Amino acid sequence: MTTPVPVGGFPAPDMLVDLPLGEVYGFLEPGPVVLLTTRRGERANVMTMSWHMMVEFVPPRIACVVSDADHSAAALTVTGECVIAIPPADLLAGVVAIGNSSGRSEDKFAAFGLTPLAAETVAAPLIGECFVDLECRVIDSSLADRFGIRVLEVIKAWRNPAVDDTRTLHHRGHGVFAVDGETIRTASRMP
Ligand SMILES: Cc1cc2nc3c(=O)[nH]c(=O)nc-3n(C[C@H](O)[C@H](O)[C@H](O)COP(=O)(O)O)c2cc1C
Repeated sequence: MTTPVPVGGFPAPDMLVDLPLGEVYGFLEPGPVVLLTTRRGERANVMTMSWHMMVEFVPPRIACVVSDADHSAAALTVTGECVIAIPPADLLAGVVAIGNSSGRSEDKFAAFGLTPLAAETVAAPLIGECFVDLECRVIDSSLADRFGIRVLEVIKAWRNPAVDDTRTLHHRGHGVFAVDGETIRTASRMP
């Protein structure tokens, strides 16, 4: 047995191996994978998004990354509003296809058989096949140019009891997904 060589007082991490930087996001990507809808003029569009995080309880605020390369980014910038819809796991094939095609060249609602529904407070559509729909306004774009980050505020939230499958999808990177599994309930002091 080799004795670890102390580095800065700690044992050397001899059992660890290099983790390529390109693999990092797959470990931290929070999920669930969501669909983000926008509507600019008469055109509704939808993209897949998994880089997002909660930043406030109530009103719910969500920071998300929408790349300038996405057609959705311009619609989000011009209208300042969108819907975040949470797809069930059985929508996986559509979720991947939506994230690998652009509203620049096709109507993704028609192409992937999604049902657009009228939202109450925004022009962007809700999605009938999703089990949660969140009507959102952009409240901060100060990091949009640098990182594509926008902070959204949820103005109105819907749950769809007609969708039985409420398992969420979580992107592990490179087209690999985890499906939401066992729920463990503990005593909580969270709001
Ligand atoms: C699983 C998955 C997750 C994605 N997450 C994001 C994301 O968080 N932010 C982003 O800008 N693009 C993300 N994308 C890529 C967009 O969905 C993709 O560029 C899409 O074609 C944009 O559509 P649009 O041009 O119609 O806006 C993701 C794609 C997939 C498949």
